[in-house]
Amino acid sequence: MNSIANEINQLRDDLNRHNHKYYVENSPEISDREFDQMMKRLEALEREHPEFADPLSPTRRVGSDLTKGFEQAPHIYPMLSLGNTYSIEEVDDWVKRTETALSGQQSAIVGEMKFDGSGISLIYEHGRLVRAVTRGDGEKGDVVTDNVKTIRSIPLVLNGSGWPEKFEIRGEIVLPWEAFDRLNADRERNEEPLFANPRNAAAGTIKMQTPAIVASRGLDAYFYYLLGEDLPFDNHYDNMMAARQWGFKVSDAMTLLNDIDDVDRYINYWDTARKQLPVATDGLVFKINSLRQQLNLGFTAKSPRWAIAYKFAAERALTRLRYVSFDVGRLGNITPVANLEPVLLSGTVVKRASLHNEDIIRSLDIHDNDMVYVEKGGEIIPKITGVDKDKRQAGSQPIEFVSHCPVCHTPLVRVEGEAAWVCPNRYGCAPQIIGRIEHYVGRRMMNIDGIGDETAAALYAAGFVRTPADLYDLTPDRLLKLEGFGPRSAERVMEGLEASRGVPFDRVLFALSIPYVGETTARKIARAAGSIDRLAAMSHTELMGLEDVGPRIADSIIEFFADASNRDNIERLRRAGVQLEMASGDEEGRSDTLGGKSFVISGVFSLHSRDDYKKMIEMNGGKNTSSISKKTDFVLAGENMGPAKLEKATNLGIKIIDERQFLEMIGQ
Ligand code: IVH
Repeated sequence: MNSIANEINQLRDDLNRHNHKYYVENSPEISDREFDQMMKRLEALEREHPEFADPLSPTRRVGSDLTKGFEQAPHIYPMLSLGNTYSIEEVDDWVKRTETALSGQQSAIVGEMKFDGSGISLIYEHGRLVRAVTRGDGEKGDVVTDNVKTIRSIPLVLNGSGWPEKFEIRGEIVLPWEAFDRLNADRERNEEPLFANPRNAAAGTIKMQTPAIVASRGLDAYFYYLLGEDLPFDNHYDNMMAARQWGFKVSDAMTLLNDIDDVDRYINYWDTARKQLPVATDGLVFKINSLRQQLNLGFTAKSPRWAIAYKFAAERALTRLRYVSFDVGRLGNITPVANLEPVLLSGTVVKRASLHNEDIIRSLDIHDNDMVYVEKGGEIIPKITGVDKDKRQAGSQPIEFVSHCPVCHTPLVRVEGEAAWVCPNRYGCAPQIIGRIEHYVGRRMMNIDGIGDETAAALYAAGFVRTPADLYDLTPDRLLKLEGFGPRSAERVMEGLEASRGVPFDRVLFALSIPYVGETTARKIARAAGSIDRLAAMSHTELMGLEDVGPRIADSIIEFFADASNRDNIERLRRAGVQLEMASGDEEGRSDTLGGKSFVISGVFSLHSRDDYKKMIEMNGGKNTSSISKKTDFVLAGENMGPAKLEKATNLGIKIIDERQFLEMIGQ
């Protein structure tokens, strides 16, 4: 046999095995560097010998293919839900009920975790993954094979032997807590809406259009159900243990239980032990082990009679309200926040919880010093769900919403038809000014490297920056006056400012913080108007004629340009060289494929120039940055990438892609 083919096959087998060691068993045998070297070697061989290409090769996990929209596929067996309960007694009743239905036969029960993610069905044929389908409506779902292939713990090609020629395995795609926290921290920095819980994040991620981004999010998957005609064993537990041998991640918590006492002990143990798990769980599942007994018990219209879910109660804590503070946002919105006596809730100490708006405060009827219930119920941001009125102190007063801005003391106004109160002192209220600077420099706006939230506040406090235009008057000397600023960080800011002069007009428009003009609206308006001067000259009627613009947005735009300080700011931005009109070619070929991901380009390229790659990144909705940091999503590496950069990227776990992979990512 061909020796190249041999080497390729050997590398694929080895890489698959090491993948499994790392992602499923959590016990790597080789260093990341050795792994990367093997992967590089395989990539090179596959590039030189396209005749040996295999879509299931471990090199294809980076998710370089591009899918647009999802095809749907029917489920071979419908994907049902589980009957559930919050009470141990009801689980005990279920055990007794099934025993009676099985005419008194003893039946072993399997206890397992109920993973809180997104259900997935995988089809394998001849030991190879052929299709991955989401739950969908239970009858049919979306085919998300390319995205699923990026999940490193899912075997693309099975290990060992004994698997049926064709079978289905079901499990849950989850986003581990660590990856979830990282993702949300990232989104917070970029002012993107946060995911409420890992389930939403997992479900959203698996349906993304760009597998390369899915790959960067760190999904994982646990399996709990094997289906098919010729399964190896006549019971659920042994089948799952076999699946584990084939390479699937099957939770160590899966256990055989013999009777009600075992079941109760299992519940009591996992009620607290689950908090140590790396992924979110919302309960336990109990299943009759014998497949013959499962068949006898059958299904109701919605769920199997042979299984039941025990759901954990949402965690709730009682603590004292210390005081309510009022945060002022970039657009002047006032958000009430409950400051609490610290209390432990689901493993974290909670000190603050949002009270959302005046209406919520009213409906809770919350008073000074009240004892309040805080809940996390699968959500990451704790909320106040109630007040223990029996513990209320005599004479305590109801919490009143402030009537004046807590920072600048301007009387608040309430926007008609909205629950929010707003501080109208837009240009004189510090948190609004600082918020606008933070927004302007943010990643999805001007993406000015080196200025984070703290620096924005420091620039304001030092009296250097009040409007975006002031940023362009910064000099290294001035920056060095800020605490914690050295020559390196000053230089980064100067580079970031320079690079921001190339940011296309649509993002500049979004960066200006015109109330109600969000990212998508800004893009549409910028393209339709073509330039800031044309936009400023538009009448209310003309504005209303633009896609996505209603009376509220039109009013807001008119008001913005009517303000002399805004017009002055814009003139100064123009002199600073900021893009205030769409460049020719800005629109053609634009896409959002890269979804705001940030790239560092390094090395020498052969297919296109470095500058071309920079443009392609911008044109496809990505961001160019100069240095590798935690915030970098991808390094686009050419030949001779510097070893220091390579090491930094590897240590931070940043995806390194070559030019071909990049071009595939943007569909070229
Ligand atoms: S068994 C016919 N086992 O919960 C029953 N489901 O509420 C098949 N889930 O759609 C499901 N962990 O997405 C089963 N250990 C587990 C599970 C589990 C999580 C999810 C699954 C299912 C939903 C039912």
